[in-house]
Amino acid sequence: MTVPPTIAETLRKHRPDVIIHAAAYADVAGAERDREHCWHTNVVGTRNLVRNAALAGMFVVYISTDYVFSGERGDYREDDTPGPVRNYYALSKLVAEESVRTLPRHLIIRTSFRAAPWPYAVAYSDLYTSQEYLDVVAPEIALAIAHLADVPYETLHIAGPRTSAYELARKTRPDVRAASRAESTVELPADVSLNTSLWRALRRTWRDQ
Ligand SMILES: NC(=O)c1ccc[n+]([C@@H]2O[C@H](COP(=O)([O-])OP(=O)(O)OC[C@H]3O[C@@H](n4cnc5c(N)ncnc54)[C@H](OP(=O)(O)O)[C@@H]3O)[C@@H](O)[C@H]2O)c1
Repeated sequence: MTVPPTIAETLRKHRPDVIIHAAAYADVAGAERDREHCWHTNVVGTRNLVRNAALAGMFVVYISTDYVFSGERGDYREDDTPGPVRNYYALSKLVAEESVRTLPRHLIIRTSFRAAPWPYAVAYSDLYTSQEYLDVVAPEIALAIAHLADVPYETLHIAGPRTSAYELARKTRPDVRAASRAESTVELPADVSLNTSLWRALRRTWRDQ
């Protein structure tokens, strides 16, 4: 992705109708220490991909994040104004979103997920998101991509119900220790829960067909 000839060559070889762009520098704390690497991967890499996709008229699905929002109130809808972002990773994903939006054919999916069981010894009880476990949210994203032609939006929130990181962690790791996001080495938003009503309505429509 950060080597433009590789992208051009891969797209020429495989001629995909749709590119699912999930590649990223996704280490939120690491991004504060290594901003250059984060920017190069998330922004320059996305720009490279977008340029090649535009030339070939391809559809791009971009996997983005709830962190594009400030976290002051939660329940964010797709058309809510993003920012101000709380950390560098979030900044890079927001800028990358805007690059993807220059394409005539695109879908930005904002989500949040963790592998199960909860991979850390601690979880923040004052960090609210719509994070879900991967085995729940990945099939939902796959369903949206399978029905891409029937998605009448350019941005879509696909995630779980609002929960604290601690509540989510306890479901798969009962001995997890509750902590405060103030203990994190990187600034984290208080509540970036996503309003997923557009997605839930779409799913209902498809189920009823
Ligand atoms: N985890 C979350 O809660 C969350 C929330 C919202 C959105 N997202 C987004 O979801 C996507 C996947 O995240 P994840 O948490 O699963 O992270 P991850 O496990 O670190 O996956 C990132 C992927 O990007 C690839 N990658 C990194 N640099 C690349 C480059 N220069 N060229 C090509 N591929 C590159 C990595 O490949 P290698 O392993 O080979 O380096 C890896 O497969 C990301 O776009 C992330 O921003 C994640």
